Amino acid sequence: MIKSTIKGIGFHVPDHVVTNDDLAKLMTTNDEWITERTGIKERRHREHRNDAQETTAYLGFKASEKAIANAGLASEDIDYIVFATLSPDYYFPGCGVLLQDMLGCGTIGALDVRNQCSGFVYAMSVANAFIKSGTYKNILVVGAEVHSFGLDFSDEGRGVSVIFGDGAGAIVLSATINDDAGDVLAVNMHSEGKYADELCTQFPGSKYGWSDRMRKEPENVTDKEVYPIMNGNFVFKHAVTRFPETMKEALDKAGKTIDDVDMFIPHQANLRIAQYVQQKFGLPDEKIFNNIQKYGNTTAASIPIALSEAIEQGKIRRGDLVLLSAFGSGFTWGSVLFEY
Ligand code: UT7
Repeated sequence: MIKSTIKGIGFHVPDHVVTNDDLAKLMTTNDEWITERTGIKERRHREHRNDAQETTAYLGFKASEKAIANAGLASEDIDYIVFATLSPDYYFPGCGVLLQDMLGCGTIGALDVRNQCSGFVYAMSVANAFIKSGTYKNILVVGAEVHSFGLDFSDEGRGVSVIFGDGAGAIVLSATINDDAGDVLAVNMHSEGKYADELCTQFPGSKYGWSDRMRKEPENVTDKEVYPIMNGNFVFKHAVTRFPETMKEALDKAGKTIDDVDMFIPHQANLRIAQYVQQKFGLPDEKIFNNIQKYGNTTAASIPIALSEAIEQGKIRRGDLVLLSAFGSGFTWGSVLFEY
């Protein structure tokens, strides 16, 4: 039977560190509020807010180079790309094709996934299905975001803008029939679109008439339409319900229990959400990995960045059982349970 194994992994974040104190110079906030409510101490932003070079596809490219090298492969060995982001370089086309060009890996297929915080879980689930069906052999699965160009750094946007950071992570998911190799054991994906407006960016979109209104009546386009909006409490409450559900579903499907899990990596949305889930499942500190303190919430990139760091730090070893779970805008949520 064909297994889907993580052959290589890597991440890349911009050098520019933005601390909570740095943000307090732009808006009415402080280190204490941000730390207490979210756990975040700093995040990365690209150096220049408007920069046509350090784009989402570029961050994804840097992470992909590392993942491909880590897999012992070359760009030509990649036969499909799945790219998850909510902050693409262009409104269209998506980042997948831009990455294909940057890597110079032939005219392979490049799929874009628009599932926000759950983007990487969705992307990995799709890649797993292609591998298991025998369609592709080495799939590059990428989560990347540049949030910093599109956040409202005024007081009005402070509930959102202090949370998000830029970064990218990538894995090479490969087909193997090796008995000793790891495998994806269970996946699940969910959505509840009636809550789309609880966490979204409205522009540019067909519902709000982007081009026409920007051209004819830019003075009537409000900040609320242009910047991300989030009903924080509402999202928080749904997250702490959906995380346990999707985790349990993945474990049940694979015939495992939480005690079998060696490492749980939650989407890095808020340290308080992760701690709530940790407590609910009675997970000891060494079985959960969080790095939101350093990178903030990097949406589709948060899981592959955390997975990459956990492996780099020797906290996940070959053969370990790893659970990835995410919840976010859409609403969307889901999990991937795999043996590394
Ligand atoms: O990854 C995608 C999924 N996203 C999430 O899972 C996020 C889930 N939600 C959250 O993480 C939290 O709701 C937030 C961190 C976004 C907000 O925390 P909260 O405890 O829900 O705060 P709040 O929105 O209820 O605001 C409390 C107070 C308000 O002031 P008043 O009305 O009590 O006077 C806000 O205006 O904190 C104020 N506030 C701030 N103060 C200082 C909001 N943002 C800030 C800020 N600095 N940055």
